[in-house]
Amino acid sequence: MQNQPVPAEPAADCRLCPRLADFLDEQRNAHPDWHNAPVPSFGPSSARLLVVGLAPGLQGANRTGRPFTGDWAGDLLYGTIDKFGFSRGTFDARPDDGLELVDCMITNAVRCLPPQNKPVGAEIRTCNQHLVQRISELPKLKVILALGRIAHDATLMALGAKRSAHTFGHGARHDISDLTLFDSYHCSRYNTNTGRLTPEMFEAVFTQIRALLKP
Ligand code: URA
Repeated sequence: MQNQPVPAEPAADCRLCPRLADFLDEQRNAHPDWHNAPVPSFGPSSARLLVVGLAPGLQGANRTGRPFTGDWAGDLLYGTIDKFGFSRGTFDARPDDGLELVDCMITNAVRCLPPQNKPVGAEIRTCNQHLVQRISELPKLKVILALGRIAHDATLMALGAKRSAHTFGHGARHDISDLTLFDSYHCSRYNTNTGRLTPEMFEAVFTQIRALLKP
């Protein structure tokens, strides 16, 4: 029997990670009007830039169904994306705000909402097959931006690159075959409130990306 190809986007009823599927069942009971399913990647498949986040936030992507939409992390991410010309339209934290990404796609290392925002290793590894496929279905891809260490490690895993050769660091650049991986601290509310990541630090990473990806 032939193996089914792995889709770039998990099925809406995916139950490969039992803990995450059970947690989504609970959210479905508590908030029947929320998305409560794997959150699909957002942006055109002609993108040269792929932004990899951690996982959907409870009140953000898990509620609205679009990555980084509806929570603090998204306000900084979409604001910066806009500033660097990777979007068209106005971000209004709603999936029907009409915003379009330009030359950019946003995805997550883990597509389902994890309890306490913390996916476990097995969930990161299981969901990685979708990231592998996501990357392989972006024919023009040149640059990946990993938001946080988990996204960095998941991206290395998806690319089959060694962790020991590519240490995570804010603003770090890693050349991996014909792709360039940039790292940033995650644009979470915690990181910005504590000053670990300032808007200027985040923009400095996008400045490096824009220098590589001329409009
Ligand atoms: N929302 C997402 O979609 N991903 C994150 O990593 C954080 C918030």
